[in-house]
Amino acid sequence: MVSKTETEERKLDHIRMCLTKDVQAKSIKAGFEDIHLVHKALPEINRNQVNTLKEIFGHKLAAPLIIGAMTGGAKTTAKINAVLAEAVEKLGLGMGVGSQRAALEDPKLAYTFQITREKAPTALLIANIGCPQLISGYGVREAEEAVKMIKANALAIHLNPLQEAIQAEGQTDFMGGLDKIGEIAHALPVPIIAKETGAGMSTEVAVALDEVGVRGIDLGGAGGTSWAAVEYHRAKKFRDELRQRLGLTFWDWGIPTSISLIEVRNSTKLTVIATGGVRTGIDIVKALALGADAVGIALPLLKSALKSPAKIEKELTHLIAELKTAMFLIGAKSIQDLDRVPVVITGKTADWLKARGFKLEEYARRG
Ligand SMILES: Cc1cc2nc3c(=O)[nH]c(=O)nc-3n(C[C@H](O)[C@H](O)[C@H](O)COP(=O)(O)O)c2cc1C
Repeated sequence: MVSKTETEERKLDHIRMCLTKDVQAKSIKAGFEDIHLVHKALPEINRNQVNTLKEIFGHKLAAPLIIGAMTGGAKTTAKINAVLAEAVEKLGLGMGVGSQRAALEDPKLAYTFQITREKAPTALLIANIGCPQLISGYGVREAEEAVKMIKANALAIHLNPLQEAIQAEGQTDFMGGLDKIGEIAHALPVPIIAKETGAGMSTEVAVALDEVGVRGIDLGGAGGTSWAAVEYHRAKKFRDELRQRLGLTFWDWGIPTSISLIEVRNSTKLTVIATGGVRTGIDIVKALALGADAVGIALPLLKSALKSPAKIEKELTHLIAELKTAMFLIGAKSIQDLDRVPVVITGKTADWLKARGFKLEEYARRG
């Protein structure tokens, strides 16, 4: 009899909760409403010549859009990963796989991740392991194994203290995490990306990660999928009152994506991926104009992938059309041009950043 491992069962639960319950941030926003691109009535460019090519970690992407790490590790997730991988291969984009812990614990599940490389032989693929697992014993060997499993172009190490703190089985000892990340960064030939999962990263954390040798930061800001929310729903299922209470209290915890992006971008020269509540091509352009090298989108693309391969391809194509349209309307013919377009930052996002000492006029006066 084939019984599911605890990790496999938990992964399935996460997918189920994300698909059937409200798991998005409520009162906290990713902050894109406070970021304003300046419309150019005379763009002086041809919409059809807008070029969205971008190179990340030596890999050319047709547009700087990466499907956020989500799944793998349970039988039914192989199909989802296959659909996502086919779409990124076809459109020249990138994708991350979900935490590979389940397959490292049980190699029979490796196929649920390997399918991504089979379906996307040339795409940018990002492997994924958790910082908590590094702290509790994983090392260079497991990191190399995760990369080898999908012939990955980079490895993301996820940082999810919020989720671990709410989850009943959570591992809340994060002592020594930074050193462990540094050890992996120095030992592996592929770039290491430190990746938050929905609560964002600050200047201080970005600087520390830069110092230990990571090559990229996926800042995973607040305002999109909330892992406190996902764990709240799981706690409800298990009638765990304390965890439900924690999930509700911390539902909107974290640093909003737009704020985190400005903090991280101004503190390192690393490759920065902005994930967390990115929902339209306009959000993508805002993130790129604030200095992101690429954006990540997770939850909405999971929903599309489950509908059909055609649906995910359509969704990604529409996002790219929105991205091009927004670029046209601000007169940017290439992704590089976005470094020079003016951006006005208002509201709570501006208040936070000013309180942290950022000079926002420099963004508004660009161009
Ligand atoms: C169903 C689901 C599973 C996820 N699993 C992982 C994971 O295993 N590893 C990881 O680094 N991030 C994981 N994430 C986090 C996403 O990569 C992303 O950082 C987060 O969902 C914010 O993006 P969004 O608002 O576009 O969903 C998961 C997200 C979802 C929705």
